[in-house]
Amino acid sequence: MKEGSRNMSGRFITFEGPEGSGKSTQIRLLAEKLESLGIEVAMTREPGGTPVGESIRGILQHDAAGESPLPRAELMLFAASRAQLMGALILPALERGAWVLCDRFIDSTMAYQGFARGMDIDTLDRINDFAIGGRKPDLTVVLDLDVECGFLRLRQRYRDEDGAHDRFEREAIEFHQRVRDGYRRLAKREPGRIHLLDSDRPIEVVASEVWMLVKERFL
Ligand code: TMP
Repeated sequence: MKEGSRNMSGRFITFEGPEGSGKSTQIRLLAEKLESLGIEVAMTREPGGTPVGESIRGILQHDAAGESPLPRAELMLFAASRAQLMGALILPALERGAWVLCDRFIDSTMAYQGFARGMDIDTLDRINDFAIGGRKPDLTVVLDLDVECGFLRLRQRYRDEDGAHDRFEREAIEFHQRVRDGYRRLAKREPGRIHLLDSDRPIEVVASEVWMLVKERFL
């Protein structure tokens, strides 16, 4: 390590949760707060965040290839998007001292492909690890929300923005219930990294709890 570069390492924070749990709003609010302190912030999302990743996103969410990926192909596409994002955006940003805020990451694969689709958890751990080269997030905030409540929020958003449900949002309610339960299990499995916050509260209340978590750990 070069002299003087010891503090040149940013923080890596991911946001997770079921559909409609308010991740992008909370990321935006946290980014504003960090930027007001003069911290460089890189905001990104999964799948996506790079040209390769955004192409993969179209295949995964909107069947852009003209057919739906089968479960194993789906898993590998998420992993490919993640590997690209890690190498092209996240690691370079962290190395120059920026903080990275990412909307979904490895825990989405565990919750959706693992707990909801039923794929083997150990295999997913290994594939995730391979995709990210071992650099896990420093903090993961799971915005926990009742599934029905999340879908109500989504429907409202789509009415306002004229959007359409993607392939995952069209899954049965039981699938999304397993996603939510999966996140709760993940938080128990890695309590040092993953924090569950109740997202069924006013945006500012959740944002101030996110801020407390970040301040306690990193500032
Ligand atoms: P979103 O970015 O609008 O939340 O949509 C991403 C969708 O992809 C969401 O339904 C969760 C799903 N997903 C997985 O199934 N596995 C993954 O590894 C990731 C990153 C997302």
